[in-house]
Amino acid sequence: MTRLYRISPEHPESGPLEDAAQALRRGELVTFPTETVYGLGANGLDPAAVRRIFAAKGRPGDNPLILHVESIEKAREVALLDSRAEALFRGYAPGPLTLVLPARECVPSVTRGGLPTVGVRIPDSSIALELIRRSRVPVAAPSANSSGRPSPTDVATVLEDLGDFVAVALDGGPTRVGLESTVLDVSTPVPVLLRPGEITLENLMESLGEVRVSGEAEELRKSPGTRYRHYAPRIPLYLWSPREGEALFALLASRGEEPGYMGIIPPPSPVKLEILFEDISQYAREFYRCLRKFEIQGVSCIVAELPEKTALGRALEDRLRRAAGEEGKKSI
Ligand code: TXA
Ligand code: MG
Repeated sequence: MTRLYRISPEHPESGPLEDAAQALRRGELVTFPTETVYGLGANGLDPAAVRRIFAAKGRPGDNPLILHVESIEKAREVALLDSRAEALFRGYAPGPLTLVLPARECVPSVTRGGLPTVGVRIPDSSIALELIRRSRVPVAAPSANSSGRPSPTDVATVLEDLGDFVAVALDGGPTRVGLESTVLDVSTPVPVLLRPGEITLENLMESLGEVRVSGEAEELRKSPGTRYRHYAPRIPLYLWSPREGEALFALLASRGEEPGYMGIIPPPSPVKLEILFEDISQYAREFYRCLRKFEIQGVSCIVAELPEKTALGRALEDRLRRAAGEEGKKSI
């Protein structure tokens, strides 16, 4: 049975934190909020505990985990930080930025998915930081969803996917950003953006000068996780740009589909269920939750507006395209 605690995001209570920290030290799994999405945490230095994460999620063993630490000093204990990494963490930590760095020997191979590097992040959440501090270990934590499913932005979603595996669940309410951290590889001479997030390419270029955006072939090599389908809802997802007008909606209607729609701009034709967002931040924050909501609301497919390519828009577009898989590619 999972021990579930409501906990204050501003002033997290020590009882639940201590229970969760002890569970981590015993090698058990704990779910906790970060500013991006909920994580499924384990002691990142304990291979048996880390294997429990892979088993619970059904995650392929070559997809490495991110180590969550509470400070730059702790980051230095698990990875080699050069001057670029130091400057980035000074500028953006705690925050939604994961740096891929050369790993120190204490990091087990299973945590790294067999790579010589390790992803390190200092999350901007008092609950997460206080949990890591009390556990006294770096916390390996992927998003707390079954592999391939939309990431969880609230604790109910975590328990839906992984309730059987979680010893302690810390419920700090819905997460602030809603999309996962920016992943930047700084183990190479020119840093490579592997996953866009709230911290943008422009932000990173300001600190670093040159940054490359990884192409498909390189992603496969560099970030094994990107090889697999991600964030996928159980019903087809089509991407729609307002420039296209009504064509996609007319096509779906002619096939007898009853779509659900989400976006900032209202759909050009009536749909079975529509979810409108005030702005791109709200769209990003609620995107994953809405994917799952549509599945249980009896729509036959989902149409999602492709957002403008603003900072957060690019991160959302990345997740939309991955969630849509081949279905989405056909419609755009
Ligand atoms: O916002 C986040 O980053 C959330 C919260 C819980 O912190 N975590 C998260 O973890 O999204 P996960 O495992 O769902 O996604 C991590 C991504 C994967 O695509 C993985 O392949 C990549 O980061 N990654 C991790 N370590 C890496 C490494 N050493 N080299 C290349 N890519 C790495
Ligand atoms: Mg994930």
